Amino acid sequence: MNKKNKPVWGTRIKGKTSAIFEKISSSIYIDKRLFKEDIHASIIHVEMLNRQKIINFKVKNKIIWGLKKIQNQIIKKKYEFDYKDEDIHMSIEKKLFEIIGEDAGFIHTARSRNDQVLVDFKIWMINSNLRLIKMLDQTIKNILRIAEKNIYTVMPGFTHLKNAQPISFAHYILAYVEMFERDKKRLKRNFDSLYENPLGSGAFSGTSFNIDRNFTTKKLGFKKPTGNSIDTVSDRDFVLDFLYASSVCAMHISRFAEEFIIWNSDAFKLITLNDSIVTGSSIMPQKKNPDTLEYLRGKVGNSYGNLFSMLTILKGLPLSYFKDLQEDKKIVFETYDNLSNSIKIFNDVLKNFTINKKEMLELADKGYITATDLADYFVKELNYSFRKSYQLTAKIVNYCEKNKKFFSDLSIQELKKIEPNIKDNVIKVFDIRNSVNSKKSYGGTSFENIKKMIRKYRNA
Ligand code: ARG
Repeated sequence: MNKKNKPVWGTRIKGKTSAIFEKISSSIYIDKRLFKEDIHASIIHVEMLNRQKIINFKVKNKIIWGLKKIQNQIIKKKYEFDYKDEDIHMSIEKKLFEIIGEDAGFIHTARSRNDQVLVDFKIWMINSNLRLIKMLDQTIKNILRIAEKNIYTVMPGFTHLKNAQPISFAHYILAYVEMFERDKKRLKRNFDSLYENPLGSGAFSGTSFNIDRNFTTKKLGFKKPTGNSIDTVSDRDFVLDFLYASSVCAMHISRFAEEFIIWNSDAFKLITLNDSIVTGSSIMPQKKNPDTLEYLRGKVGNSYGNLFSMLTILKGLPLSYFKDLQEDKKIVFETYDNLSNSIKIFNDVLKNFTINKKEMLELADKGYITATDLADYFVKELNYSFRKSYQLTAKIVNYCEKNKKFFSDLSIQELKKIEPNIKDNVIKVFDIRNSVNSKKSYGGTSFENIKKMIRKYRNA
């Protein structure tokens, strides 16, 4: 739209745009979020145009003055966003005409909305990635604090949700440090392409003006200009990378949430959630439901959906710009908002639960959880092969089950009936703390290892 309230293409396209299409296809209420990036990039763009003698000094200053005024109006909420302006770029250009007059017409020299929108979007995404990485740093710190206090908290480790081998709670929760460190890495890996400057690609073929892309690259904080103008305006790989990295991170949070939902259940009772992260029932007065965790588990669906939306939009799309691509911002903003909210809520969860150590230990003592240790004992003490030791241990488990005994109830005499070579020192094998501490292989659950890893993560 120009100042006469007609679109800039009004001279060419005389008919009125379909009212419903005009309304529905406008992205201004979504991309107004890019106003700061748009104004900043426009200022650098006109500075470059002036340096290259494409526009004069006076016009450049006038445009910058006008743009800053617009920025102030938007910040002070004295700016009206109108869907008829289509998007934030056209809205700001129109406003510039209102403020500085016809000289505003020079701002769009040697650029297109196709490269303009990508500059704004990439700058926004760089900053958002940095924010997410910082938030994950906080999450990792919270986890390390919990781990430090729970090195000696023994719990049952599960496979198939059945008691498998005893572990330290610290070791369990430190698994998530590895995951969130990988999430940070995945986000950081995307910087390579995010830091390539699209400005100067024009509509898709470059520009005949003698522009300086290295200048805008430097001033806008990019690392280098993109290499092919057609690819530049067609490319949304950096969007997919972000959506994938976000989906994986949200998935990690959802796995944690699911485990805590199970452990908080009346069947497990391994942890208790504080009142600040539970909600009640409208009919059952006794209930304390883990809604926050369910929210975290559920939200990941939205991230996956958005990743698949974008993949589908791009499938078979011919090169260069198409309106289809405009969806990218809604998808990215929504994914970012959901993920950053989820991380914040997750950080709250980490500060608001108690570990029921007694119940953990009791559950860890069930289900012949030290059976692997017994099999290992036969290998080490009696030089049996692991498979032979495994079968022998299975026999002992069967014997216990039949006679309704735990390992610790067995006398040496009983054990010797099954395996005559067994020695008295077998007793220590049934101790679950001993079992945890015996896993001294690098990355295992022994107490010393855990302490070492906490130190390592702290210094990372
Ligand atoms: N709002 C548009 C988008 O986000 C900007 C690019 C428009 N370009 C065009 N040729 N219509 O995709």
